Amino acid sequence: MSTILIANPKGGSGKTTLATNLAGYFASRGRHVVLSDMDRQRSALQWLERRPHKLPLIHGQDGRGKFATSLSADWTIIDSPAGLRGDKLKQAVKDANFVIVPMQTSAFDIGATRDFLQVLQEEKAIRKGHTFVAMIGMRVDSRTRAAQALQEFLATSGFPSVGNLRPAQVYALAAEQGASLFDIRPSQVNRDLQQWAPLLHWLINAHKQKQVKKETGT
Ligand SMILES: Nc1ncnc2c1ncn2[C@@H]1O[C@H](COP(=O)(O)OP(=O)(O)OP(=O)(O)O)[C@@H](O)[C@H]1O
Ligand SMILES: [Mg+2]
Repeated sequence: MSTILIANPKGGSGKTTLATNLAGYFASRGRHVVLSDMDRQRSALQWLERRPHKLPLIHGQDGRGKFATSLSADWTIIDSPAGLRGDKLKQAVKDANFVIVPMQTSAFDIGATRDFLQVLQEEKAIRKGHTFVAMIGMRVDSRTRAAQALQEFLATSGFPSVGNLRPAQVYALAAEQGASLFDIRPSQVNRDLQQWAPLLHWLINAHKQKQVKKETGT
């Protein structure tokens, strides 16, 4: 089992969008998924309450207080609140195998995320290679100067970047319906689905490497 923490203390950076869609992806592949919500706004759990029963099952968990690892889950995905810092952040990073940092293109987002990445770089679990970190651009219109500024920032961030998701109405529509992009007919969201491929490859490869390490005791 693997635990993915979705984190960026900057509000509105796309954490819940990323967490709910990732949960939807793994559920659509028949995996046992726990979506854990650390945010007292409960956006991820509310999304789950709206989720139609006919869609692949995702288990919800209130992730506030002490984080309870679900041993039977293949993937636990943790949606964290804006402003996550200090001991809570430290503990969440330590408990996670992966941290994914969503970010948008504005100068404000870049400034806030830069500070956050510095904090991550100092975390022992990350320095020692127990927890892997990747960055993903959210609502990135590749034709804009802001997108270029984001690419320049990501190139020097010290962490791998696993692509960009373009701005698309379908994210808001899916959120309203308790669905993910992976629950929608692929022909309707083809271009958007393609943009998830680098992130999913990165996660699945690292997950496999982790399993090999565990089996061989290396
Ligand atoms: N690729 C995208 N295209 C269009 N809208 C998007 C995209 N990604 C995120 N959004 C929208 O951006 C808004 C903020 O996203 P979201 O709620 O996921 O951020 P958050 O980091 O969880 O916010 P908070 O810090 O308040 O918890 C939402 O309205 C969401 O629908
Ligand atoms: Mg949120």
